[in-house]
Amino acid sequence: MLSRRHFFRNLGLGSAGLLSTSFIIGRGREAMAFEAGAMQAPDDGGFIRISSNENARGPGRKTIEALGNTISPRVGRGYPPDNTGDLVATIADIYGVGRDHVIVGTGSGAILEAGTRAFCSTEKPLVTAAPTYGTPDQAARRIGAPVRMIRVDRSLGLDIDAMAEAAKGAGMIFFCNPNNPTGTVHNAAAMEKFIRRVKQSSPETRILIDEAYIDYTHDGAVKTAVPLAKELTGVFVTRSFSKAHGMAGLRLGYAIGQPETVKAISSAWSLGSVNTLTAAAGIASLRDPKHIEEERAENARVRDFTLQAFKSLGYEAPDCHTNCIFVDLKRPASQFREACAALKVSVGRDFPPFEKTHSRITLGTMDEMRQAVQVFKRVLTTSSTGAAAL
Ligand SMILES: Cc1ncc(COP(=O)(O)O)c(C=O)c1O
Repeated sequence: MLSRRHFFRNLGLGSAGLLSTSFIIGRGREAMAFEAGAMQAPDDGGFIRISSNENARGPGRKTIEALGNTISPRVGRGYPPDNTGDLVATIADIYGVGRDHVIVGTGSGAILEAGTRAFCSTEKPLVTAAPTYGTPDQAARRIGAPVRMIRVDRSLGLDIDAMAEAAKGAGMIFFCNPNNPTGTVHNAAAMEKFIRRVKQSSPETRILIDEAYIDYTHDGAVKTAVPLAKELTGVFVTRSFSKAHGMAGLRLGYAIGQPETVKAISSAWSLGSVNTLTAAAGIASLRDPKHIEEERAENARVRDFTLQAFKSLGYEAPDCHTNCIFVDLKRPASQFREACAALKVSVGRDFPPFEKTHSRITLGTMDEMRQAVQVFKRVLTTSSTGAAAL
């Protein structure tokens, strides 16, 4: 059997290489980042990539160890569902639900696509927000389902009343809590009121609560909606391993809902085929809540630093419960993005209807953000267009 140490030696990786591996996994398809002193510099053309909401720190050490320990000839076996049984059981145990309440996929994005296809159609609209995470909207358009887009409110939070109202007769409502890109969140009491209201006024409408970022919230009144998904037909919660768990490159997500609901989702569209290494990493990460605590604290430290840096330049962003901030820079996102890119910092895409004023900036490592803030200062103070900074 190939030992973990042997495996990494074969790859030419020492213990520093092990750390780098963690950073690569957290980046998904994007390149890796580094923390001063701990890491080698990224081979990324010198770019700081804070344009996708990946996790620059990657997974915890125990998760990396679980990956190494899983590499053995046993990977020659394990077609799904054999290789995901333990993962599903671990998730079910954490939430106190039966295994038939859980589905897993290669990223929660696959489940968002499948859910939209399962419950929306040309006669059954999708209700979503503007701006919010785009997969349900894109999936609805692909199948010709009408989309009811509800603009966020003045504080950039999801307009919970307007969304509940729009849900009447809809196939599904997509509610991202915390919301990407605005970083805003609704607490448990508000969510319960909203979900029960929709169930009463439009009982056939399915309710998808996307909690990809919930591990990052610093509001103690925010809680998972899983208890409501257990209790109420047609309500389901999706979670991602790509954010606080730092596993974007391993592709893993899951949903919890009543058996008929999750069955309808997995019958509608492929959720992908989760591999043995990813399943082992998912279990290890779920069993390491201390690492998630540390990750939340580090993200908060980076968030406070970055928000303060913008504030001192005169630009405001809502308090954020994700790993990104959405800043009112009073100029088109494209202009800011191009000026930053010329100085080797990649920031987020346009988020209509705020593309003329707001930019989304993912929170990287503290070291990356210190460097990025220097670039932001240069771009924002040199001229109102940023052009002179080039
Ligand atoms: C709100 C939200 N939901 C779902 C996803 C999809 O994540 P994944 O497919 O990596 O689990 C993302 C990715 O950025 C997201 O921001």
